[in-house]
Amino acid sequence: MKRIGVMTSGGDAPGMNAAVRAVVRRGESLGIEVYGIYNGYKGLVEGDINRITSGDVGGILNRGGTVLFSARYPEFKTEEGQRKGLEQLEKFGIEGVVVIGGDGSFRGAQSLAKLGFPAIGIPGTIDNDIPGTDYTLGFDTTVNTVTEALDRVRDTAGSHGRVLVVEVMGRDAGDIAIWGGLSAGAEAIVIPETDYDVNQIVNNIKEGFAKGKNQGLIVLAEGVMPARQLIEHIQSIDNSFNIREVVLGHIQRGGVPTVRDRVIGSRFGARAVELLLEGASGLCVALVNEEIGTHTFDDIFDNLLHEPKLHLYELNKYLI
Ligand code: ADP
Ligand code: F6P
Repeated sequence: MKRIGVMTSGGDAPGMNAAVRAVVRRGESLGIEVYGIYNGYKGLVEGDINRITSGDVGGILNRGGTVLFSARYPEFKTEEGQRKGLEQLEKFGIEGVVVIGGDGSFRGAQSLAKLGFPAIGIPGTIDNDIPGTDYTLGFDTTVNTVTEALDRVRDTAGSHGRVLVVEVMGRDAGDIAIWGGLSAGAEAIVIPETDYDVNQIVNNIKEGFAKGKNQGLIVLAEGVMPARQLIEHIQSIDNSFNIREVVLGHIQRGGVPTVRDRVIGSRFGARAVELLLEGASGLCVALVNEEIGTHTFDDIFDNLLHEPKLHLYELNKYLI
């Protein structure tokens, strides 16, 4: 193998640039030419592809977002779209590809591998929700951002005796809410993986005020319901709270990557290139007990489950 491609796809995540840089530089150290595929699968199909060298990835380690840009491109779910992508790869003489993204992006990589084209995935999504890996790139930066935001919200809530419902990202996974909520000492955390009891939430807040707290903080994963809806639900039980909502939104996805995201991005990127050169395909790299391992895409989709850290969610209940 002499020439490979690298792309970022789906929601961008801090640490993706560290992985791109490592793919390029580890590739060069192994005598491989690396091509950047811009704008995810859209750029693949449209031939938005360019050679990138060591110098091109200088100064990106500390930058959030992705220098290769990203896109959501549903057309790649069809075999027609995938074959168009393969034609472009052939045209550029690319013999293997590294795809950095979430589970949707891995489905695209899996389809390339099934069509006979070597493809390796790198878990990159702030949601931390890919089965089989303890960690996905971006999560650490995001939960640090969320925690800082929650600290700020607590300051103002405590100055006004308010309850704040803070909606964080996570359509299917509560990891961001759990880690943010525990780190900031939330009075309640609401996640998609477990039922919530609005009476319990109201009790937590009331007990907090009775114990002398001057604020209540509820962290809600967006996948459960919008913050406004939870507020209405709370008010239908108890309308006495001075309550506000905060939707953190895309602020959670940007920002300078933490050390963890830079280091793991570098490790993932280097290992992905090595795997391609070893002849592997249809695999993604994974962090398992702090070591870099691999899983097949088939296992990720058919046999493994993402397990949120529910013991942290339970722990928070004893600490409020
Ligand atoms: P993420 O990778 O963060 O989960 P998405 O779910 O939006 O983000 O997926 C990113 C892109 O991956 C999609 O826009 C599409 O181009 C591609 N993709 C998603 N699902 C599939 C699929 N089933 N088959 C092929 N490609 C897919
Ligand atoms: O998958 C990452 C993520 O940030 C989710 O947490 C969120 O639900 C989604 O992407 C938002 O997607 P978009 O940027 O397309 O609105």
